[in-house]
Amino acid sequence: MDRVKRDILIAKADIDKRVQELADVISRDYEGKELVVIGILKGAFVFMADLIRSLRVPCMIDFVRLASYGTGTVSSGSIMITKDIETPIRGRDVLVVEDIVDTGLSLSFLVDRLKERDPQSLKVCVFLDKKERRKVPFEAEYVGFDIPDHFVVGYGLDFNEMYRFLPDVCVIKE
Ligand code: XMP
Ligand code: MG
Repeated sequence: MDRVKRDILIAKADIDKRVQELADVISRDYEGKELVVIGILKGAFVFMADLIRSLRVPCMIDFVRLASYGTGTVSSGSIMITKDIETPIRGRDVLVVEDIVDTGLSLSFLVDRLKERDPQSLKVCVFLDKKERRKVPFEAEYVGFDIPDHFVVGYGLDFNEMYRFLPDVCVIKE
Protein backbone atom coordinates (compact mmCIF):
# COMPACT_ATOMS: atom_id res chain seq x y z
CA MET A 1 0.00 0.00 0.00
CA ASP A 2 2.81 2.37 0.87
CA ARG A 3 5.14 1.64 -2.00
CA VAL A 4 4.52 5.01 -3.65
CA LYS A 5 6.63 7.78 -2.10
CA ARG A 6 4.80 10.98 -1.26
CA ASP A 7 5.34 14.35 0.42
CA ILE A 8 2.72 16.34 2.30
CA LEU A 9 1.77 19.44 0.30
CA ILE A 10 -1.13 20.67 2.47
CA ALA A 11 -1.45 19.36 6.02
CA LYS A 12 -4.78 18.46 7.64
CA ALA A 13 -4.64 21.42 10.08
CA ASP A 14 -4.26 23.88 7.18
CA ILE A 15 -7.06 22.16 5.24
CA ASP A 16 -9.40 22.38 8.24
CA LYS A 17 -8.65 26.09 8.71
CA ARG A 18 -9.15 26.91 5.01
CA VAL A 19 -12.40 24.91 4.73
CA GLN A 20 -13.80 26.85 7.68
CA GLU A 21 -12.77 30.15 6.02
CA LEU A 22 -14.48 29.14 2.77
CA ALA A 23 -17.61 28.09 4.65
CA ASP A 24 -17.68 31.44 6.46
CA VAL A 25 -17.48 33.39 3.17
CA ILE A 26 -20.12 31.20 1.50
CA SER A 27 -22.42 31.46 4.53
CA ARG A 28 -22.15 35.25 4.40
CA ASP A 29 -22.78 35.34 0.63
CA TYR A 30 -25.90 33.17 0.89
CA GLU A 31 -27.29 34.53 4.16
CA GLY A 32 -31.06 33.99 4.35
CA LYS A 33 -31.00 31.64 1.36
CA GLU A 34 -31.04 27.90 0.92
CA LEU A 35 -28.45 26.11 -1.21
CA VAL A 36 -28.43 23.08 -3.44
CA VAL A 37 -24.86 21.78 -3.14
CA ILE A 38 -23.82 19.50 -5.99
CA GLY A 39 -20.67 17.39 -5.56
CA ILE A 40 -18.77 15.81 -8.42
CA LEU A 41 -18.05 12.14 -7.69
CA LYS A 42 -15.88 10.72 -6.54
CA GLY A 43 -13.13 13.20 -5.66
CA ALA A 44 -15.26 15.93 -4.07
CA PHE A 45 -16.95 13.80 -1.42
CA VAL A 46 -14.47 14.42 1.43
CA PHE A 47 -14.21 18.18 0.85
CA MET A 48 -17.97 18.51 0.43
CA ALA A 49 -18.67 16.57 3.65
CA ASP A 50 -16.43 18.95 5.61
CA LEU A 51 -17.66 22.08 3.85
CA ILE A 52 -21.40 21.53 4.34
CA ARG A 53 -20.92 20.80 8.04
CA SER A 54 -19.22 24.19 8.45
CA LEU A 55 -21.90 26.15 6.56
CA ARG A 56 -24.45 28.25 8.41
CA VAL A 57 -27.01 28.13 5.59
CA PRO A 58 -29.37 25.20 5.08
CA CYS A 59 -28.55 23.03 2.09
CA MET A 60 -29.75 20.06 0.11
CA ILE A 61 -27.08 17.89 -1.44
CA ASP A 62 -26.82 15.89 -4.62
CA PHE A 63 -24.08 14.37 -6.77
CA VAL A 64 -23.08 14.06 -10.39
CA ARG A 65 -20.53 11.77 -11.91
CA LEU A 66 -18.63 12.77 -15.04
CA ALA A 67 -16.60 10.65 -17.41
CA SER A 68 -13.95 12.08 -19.66
CA TYR A 69 -12.64 10.04 -22.50
CA GLY A 70 -8.90 10.29 -22.71
CA THR A 71 -5.82 8.60 -21.41
CA GLY A 72 -4.93 8.16 -17.75
CA THR A 73 -4.65 11.39 -15.81
CA VAL A 74 -5.20 13.69 -18.81
CA SER A 75 -8.65 15.01 -19.67
CA SER A 76 -9.41 14.63 -23.37
CA GLY A 77 -12.06 17.27 -23.77
CA SER A 78 -14.87 14.84 -24.49
CA ILE A 79 -16.93 14.76 -21.31
CA MET A 80 -20.31 13.29 -20.40
CA ILE A 81 -22.56 12.98 -17.38
CA THR A 82 -22.73 9.31 -16.33
CA LYS A 83 -24.81 9.96 -13.19
CA ASP A 84 -27.06 13.01 -13.12
CA ILE A 85 -28.46 14.88 -10.12
CA GLU A 86 -31.95 13.89 -8.98
CA THR A 87 -32.83 17.32 -7.56
CA PRO A 88 -34.64 19.92 -9.69
CA ILE A 89 -32.55 23.10 -9.70
CA ARG A 90 -34.79 25.51 -11.62
CA GLY A 91 -35.01 28.70 -9.58
CA ARG A 92 -32.62 27.38 -6.90
CA ASP A 93 -29.27 28.71 -5.69
CA VAL A 94 -26.74 26.10 -6.74
CA LEU A 95 -23.18 25.58 -5.53
CA VAL A 96 -21.09 23.03 -7.43
CA VAL A 97 -18.30 21.51 -5.34
CA GLU A 98 -15.25 19.90 -6.93
CA ASP A 99 -11.93 18.56 -5.66
CA ILE A 100 -9.65 20.15 -8.24
CA VAL A 101 -9.78 22.22 -11.41
CA ASP A 102 -7.05 21.41 -13.87
CA THR A 103 -7.66 21.99 -17.62
CA GLY A 104 -11.10 23.46 -16.76
CA LEU A 105 -12.80 21.17 -19.28
CA SER A 106 -14.92 19.19 -16.77
CA LEU A 107 -16.25 22.17 -14.85
CA SER A 108 -16.92 24.37 -17.85
CA PHE A 109 -18.86 21.49 -19.41
CA LEU A 110 -20.87 20.82 -16.25
CA VAL A 111 -21.61 24.49 -15.56
CA ASP A 112 -22.98 24.90 -19.11
CA ARG A 113 -25.21 21.81 -18.73
CA LEU A 114 -26.55 22.93 -15.33
CA LYS A 115 -27.21 26.52 -16.49
CA GLU A 116 -29.53 25.13 -19.18
CA ARG A 117 -31.82 24.11 -16.28
CA ASP A 118 -32.33 27.75 -15.23
CA PRO A 119 -31.07 27.85 -11.66
CA GLN A 120 -31.55 31.18 -9.83
CA SER A 121 -27.76 31.29 -9.41
CA LEU A 122 -24.85 28.94 -9.96
CA LYS A 123 -21.38 29.21 -8.44
CA VAL A 124 -18.46 26.83 -8.14
CA CYS A 125 -16.32 26.02 -5.12
CA VAL A 126 -13.12 24.05 -5.74
CA PHE A 127 -10.77 22.77 -3.10
CA LEU A 128 -7.66 22.98 -5.31
CA ASP A 129 -6.82 24.99 -8.42
CA LYS A 130 -3.97 24.27 -10.85
CA LYS A 131 -4.35 27.55 -12.74
CA GLU A 132 -1.33 27.07 -15.02
CA ARG A 133 -2.89 23.95 -16.58
CA ARG A 134 -6.01 25.56 -18.10
CA LYS A 135 -7.01 24.63 -21.64
CA VAL A 136 -10.27 26.58 -21.48
CA PRO A 137 -10.92 29.73 -19.45
CA PHE A 138 -12.55 28.80 -16.16
CA GLU A 139 -12.61 30.58 -12.82
CA ALA A 140 -14.28 29.22 -9.71
CA GLU A 141 -15.93 31.75 -7.39
CA TYR A 142 -14.45 30.01 -4.32
CA VAL A 143 -10.98 28.40 -4.27
CA GLY A 144 -9.39 26.60 -1.33
CA PHE A 145 -5.76 26.54 -2.45
CA ASP A 146 -3.88 27.40 -5.65
CA ILE A 147 -1.31 24.68 -6.26
CA PRO A 148 1.50 24.21 -8.79
CA ASP A 149 1.34 21.55 -11.47
CA HIS A 150 1.93 18.41 -9.38
CA PHE A 151 -0.24 15.31 -9.31
CA VAL A 152 -1.79 15.28 -5.85
CA VAL A 153 -3.64 12.68 -3.79
CA GLY A 154 -5.47 12.50 -0.48
CA TYR A 155 -8.49 14.31 0.98
CA GLY A 156 -10.66 12.58 -1.65
CA LEU A 157 -8.17 12.73 -4.52
CA ASP A 158 -6.84 9.47 -5.90
CA PHE A 159 -4.12 7.79 -7.88
CA ASN A 160 -5.69 4.71 -9.51
CA GLU A 161 -8.41 4.82 -6.82
CA MET A 162 -5.86 4.74 -3.99
CA TYR A 163 -5.07 7.35 -1.31
CA ARG A 164 -8.50 9.06 -1.20
CA PHE A 165 -8.54 8.32 2.55
CA LEU A 166 -5.37 10.29 3.39
CA PRO A 167 -6.18 13.28 5.65
CA ASP A 168 -3.45 15.46 4.07
CA VAL A 169 -2.97 16.48 0.42
CA CYS A 170 0.18 14.76 -0.78
CA VAL A 171 2.37 14.89 -3.88
CA ILE A 172 3.28 11.58 -5.47
CA LYS A 173 7.03 11.35 -6.09
CA GLU A 174 8.65 9.25 -8.84
P1 XMP B 1 -10.20 19.14 -15.67
O1 XMP B 1 -11.35 18.91 -16.57
O2 XMP B 1 -10.22 20.46 -14.97
O3 XMP B 1 -10.31 17.96 -14.66
O4 XMP B 1 -8.88 18.89 -16.35
C1 XMP B 1 -10.35 17.97 -13.33
C2 XMP B 1 -10.32 16.53 -12.92
O5 XMP B 1 -9.03 15.96 -13.21
C3 XMP B 1 -8.61 15.14 -12.17
N1 XMP B 1 -7.33 15.65 -11.66
C4 XMP B 1 -6.67 15.15 -10.62
N2 XMP B 1 -6.96 14.14 -9.79
N3 XMP B 1 -4.94 14.53 -8.62
C5 XMP B 1 -6.09 13.82 -8.79
O6 XMP B 1 -6.32 12.91 -8.02
C6 XMP B 1 -4.59 15.56 -9.41
O7 XMP B 1 -3.53 16.17 -9.21
C7 XMP B 1 -5.51 15.90 -10.47
N4 XMP B 1 -5.47 16.84 -11.43
C8 XMP B 1 -6.62 16.68 -12.13
C9 XMP B 1 -9.69 15.18 -11.13
O8 XMP B 1 -10.46 14.03 -11.32
C10 XMP B 1 -10.52 16.40 -11.44
O9 XMP B 1 -11.85 16.21 -11.12
MG1 MG C 1 -12.66 14.43 -10.17
